Amino acid sequence: MADTTEQGLAGRTAIVTGGGRGIGRATAVALAGAGVARIALVARTAAQLDETARAIEAAGAQPVAVTADLADSDSVRTAVEAAERQLGQVDILVNNAGTVAPLGATAKLDAADVLAALRLNVVAPILLAGAVADGMRDRSWGRIVNVSSGVVARPETMPGGGVYAATKAALEAQTVSMAAEYADTGVHINVYRPGPVDTAMQEWIRAQDPEAIGRRLHERFIGYRESGTLLTAEQSGAALVAHLVRREETGRIWDVTDEL
Ligand SMILES: NC(=O)c1ccc[n+]([C@@H]2O[C@H](COP(=O)([O-])OP(=O)(O)OC[C@H]3O[C@@H](n4cnc5c(N)ncnc54)[C@H](OP(=O)(O)O)[C@@H]3O)[C@@H](O)[C@H]2O)c1
Repeated sequence: MADTTEQGLAGRTAIVTGGGRGIGRATAVALAGAGVARIALVARTAAQLDETARAIEAAGAQPVAVTADLADSDSVRTAVEAAERQLGQVDILVNNAGTVAPLGATAKLDAADVLAALRLNVVAPILLAGAVADGMRDRSWGRIVNVSSGVVARPETMPGGGVYAATKAALEAQTVSMAAEYADTGVHINVYRPGPVDTAMQEWIRAQDPEAIGRRLHERFIGYRESGTLLTAEQSGAALVAHLVRREETGRIWDVTDEL
């Protein structure tokens, strides 16, 4: 077995999608704290990426902000190229960017909105993983984490959130299949379910018109907030990185509660 220095995160290069805020930002900062040397942050909002970049620098890593709309597959490719040009080959990919929209009655869904969710939550992480995995295999070391949701295990808890549940279920199936594809190569590919986390995504759901997204769904998310069950992004990001540090395994469904 290789020693911890070879297996560890120290000195590695990472990409974190959705690194501008929320769980992605907290994960990027936790990676820097774990010794990752270079981190590319990908999202659409430059000002938020810059803010995370400053936090990463303060934690001792070199950041690069890559502004891209990952729902566009051409942008996915150019984002990886931009990250590798500036930071070198990627050792760690955290596919965290995601959308919970569209929410509401299935009968009222618009095809364009459903396809947009699939492009960001499923197509982008698959293309990103595909862009970096062979390089990782050639170097016999790589880590890919696909951020999913506990809703996959209990989709009935999210009436009106069926598209979101479906995209995350698809991502989980692809993750486990890809992990088997890269078995025994040193490339570990796992799912991470981050738990209910107090981020802009939860805030956005609470701000929706209950009539538009469904009263039961709206009440459920108000309840998460009021009952004090939401985690902080820092707790969830730290738990993701703790999985990476402690678990030499692939093809698993990791849950935040395993490392809280
Ligand atoms: N919060 C929760 O309770 C919870 C629970 C389970 C799972 N999750 C999952 O955790 C992940 C992070 O969620 P979060 O709560 O931290 O959400 P968030 O605060 O809304 O952050 C989402 C991040 O993704 C980026 N993003 C969104 N659309 C994008 C696009 N088209 N192209 C590139 N980047 C895009 C956002 O930046 P821009 O808008 O600037 O592009 C932002 O940086 C998601 O995959 C989510 O499904 C969250």
